[in-house]
Order: sequence, then C-alpha cells, then structure tokens
Amino acid sequence: MTKDSPIGVFDSGVGGISVLRVMQETMPHENFIYYGDSGNAPYGEKTPDHIRRLSENVIRFLFHKEVKAVVIACNTATSAAADYLRAKYPDRIILGMEPAVKPAVLQSGKRHPAVLVMATSSTLHGERMKHLVSLHGEDGDIYPLAAPGIVRLVEAGKKDSPEMLEYLSEILSPYRKHADGSIGTHIDSLVLGCTHFPFVEEHIKEVLGYPVEVYNGAYGTAREALRRLTEAGLLSDRAAPGDVKLYSSSTAPDPTALERMLLLS
Ligand code: DGL
Repeated sequence: MTKDSPIGVFDSGVGGISVLRVMQETMPHENFIYYGDSGNAPYGEKTPDHIRRLSENVIRFLFHKEVKAVVIACNTATSAAADYLRAKYPDRIILGMEPAVKPAVLQSGKRHPAVLVMATSSTLHGERMKHLVSLHGEDGDIYPLAAPGIVRLVEAGKKDSPEMLEYLSEILSPYRKHADGSIGTHIDSLVLGCTHFPFVEEHIKEVLGYPVEVYNGAYGTAREALRRLTEAGLLSDRAAPGDVKLYSSSTAPDPTALERMLLLS
C-alpha cells in the first residue's frame, strides 16, 4: 500500500454514494473504489451475524484491490461489523459511520432538543445506538424511526417518486405539520442515520413542513478519514483530481444505478 493506492468505500447498495461525494470533496486528489452490495440489500432488516458475513466478503474484495483504507459508508454495517472487522484485520485502516446523535443533541442551539433519528431497524437496535442514547439521552429527547421503505425505493431508483412522498407522509405523520396546522411532536433536529437517506433529505424536510436542523454523519467520517490517512502518511500527493471505480454485486434491475446516483448527488 502506498499514497497512490485507492480508498475503498462500501455500502449495502447505492446509499454510500452520498458519503463518497463528501469524501471526494474533502480529499479531491484521492482515487476511490466504491462497492455497492445491492445484490444483498437491504442490510437493515438482516441479523447482525448475516451483516458481518456480507461485510467481510466486501472488505476482502476491497483488500484484493489493494486499498489503503476502507470506509464503511453504511451505518448498519458499521454497527454490526466494524468492531469484528477491526479485530480480525488489526493492521488495516477501517473507518465507519454512526448516526450523528451527538452533534444533533449538543450543537442544535436549543436546550434539550427533540431529535428524530432516522435509521435502519438494525442500527436502531444495535449496541452503538444504545451507547449513544445512554450518553446523550439526558440532554435531549431522542425519537428513533426505522424507515426501510426509503432504502427499498432508493435502491429501486424511485427516490423522487409519488410512492416515496406517500411513504414519508405516512411514517412522519407523528412529527409533520398537518393540513390543520397541528404537529404531534415538534422536532428540532433530524439525524440522517442511514446513508440512503441524504438522497431524500429535501423530501423529508418538505413533508415535515417546518424548519429542522439536519445532521449527516458523512462529514465527520470524511474528516476522520482525512485525519487517519494524514497520520499514517498515506494521503495522496498527486496534483491531478482523483477518480472513482464503481462495483456492484447486482446486475438487476439496473446495472447503471451507481453511476446514476453519483451523477445525481
Ligand atoms: N445505507 C445503509 C445504512 O447506512 C443501510 C441500508 C440497508 O441496506 O438497509 O445504514
């Protein structure tokens, strides 16, 4: 591995492209290899053991491509597999992501904010989330909300569809402003705790119908990747812009889904 080696980035599908975009902005001279495991998505409804096995398969593919670091651009895979993978491959740089609960509670500018944490069911039930709630649950009201339909529709290329808006209206019903102006629970901060969700950030805000602060863990992850690579002396020093190679485990229904998401994001 050298400074010129690529950085591996993976997700259960197209969601991690939202993280890849932020990583490219943060480290424009790096080459990236992106792997979307769309053939096995969604991860969010699978057991932690199954997610660990799938994640290990992907990470071994990335190691085979001689990446200098791996970014798990998936909150679900990080929650279920990051500790296991770091213990098994201690010489590798393996970064993950977690829902940005800490900044959503502490930096919202409000005392004791109401924080809606949208993530997969697996992430919301995982040990990391329990830990985050135990650390920050006293300083804010945390409302977890699983949204598997977003992952399904984004994977199906339907991020801007009427089905998406209908689905969001339904699951956000307790938190959104209704036609008569009523709001069940008014949210101050919204955590996008799944990397598929930034693709529908504007739709979520529109459906809520009032201003909220949005928190996306991708920025923290990209900063941490920059810090770790700098510390390891592995940051690229090439002057030209880096490139991206995209791989997917899915050939159906749309093998060009990753390219499309990269162009759209
Ligand atoms: N994008 C993934 C995450 O960040 C999970 C989506 C899924 O496969 O359920 O949690």
